[in-house]
Amino acid sequence: MRGYDRSSLILAVVLAVLTAAGATAIAAGISENELATLRKAAITDNPSAPTMRPQGNTDLRQVRNYPEQPPVIPHKIEGYQVDANVNKCMTCHSRTAIEESQAPMVSITHFMDRDGQFLASISPRRYFCNQCHVPQHEVKRPVDNTFVDVDTVLGGGQ
Ligand code: HEC
Ligand code: HEC
Repeated sequence: MRGYDRSSLILAVVLAVLTAAGATAIAAGISENELATLRKAAITDNPSAPTMRPQGNTDLRQVRNYPEQPPVIPHKIEGYQVDANVNKCMTCHSRTAIEESQAPMVSITHFMDRDGQFLASISPRRYFCNQCHVPQHEVKRPVDNTFVDVDTVLGGGQ
């Protein structure tokens, strides 16, 4: 019974916070529909989906926003198979493939298991590349952000 009481209390608090947030947004001049959906249509409407933009394919490696960032993919990956049988990415990015492909090799962290041991080939936890690496599309940002990297924070840096 105690558990039941507590969850009703949490629900009531959540509802109160949501109502307050909604009221603030309306007060700030954002319409209810815009808040509910980035599609710019009422939640009850079913507008046709915007056309997909093509994947970026500049072949130019892009700056990383912080050292641990998985680099974004500067080429198309449409139709690349990555499953239990085949890893298309590794046909270019594996240690032995790079001489021919001239692609950067997957880094040493990709050979480490969770205990920090180096394996002979790609670690299972790095096998599904697209968990971390993503291709780019030329699109208008739906939401702006004010991210600045650490060099800017430190005042210029290298
Ligand atoms: C046909 C060879 C080939 C295949 C297949 C391929 N790549 Fe690449 N990749 C490259 C080359 C070459 C580069 C260097 C930049 C360029 O030429 O696009 C690169 C660059 C990258 C980079 C940027 C690295 C950096 O340091 O900025 C990432 C990340 C990457 N690829 C991930 C992938 C993933 C994930 C897949 C599979 C979905 C994949 N690649 C499949 C050849 C390939
Ligand atoms: C769990 C997340 C994760 C997965 C899965 C993953 N990577 Fe990465 N990758 C990273 C991170 C983080 C970096 C940058 C730091 C580093 O090298 O570890 C990176 C770096 C790279 C680089 C640049 C290496 C360099 O020295 O410049 C390439 C190329 C790359 N990954 C390709 C791949 C490919 C191909 C796969 C799939 C076989 C893959 N990655 C799977 C997180 C991941």
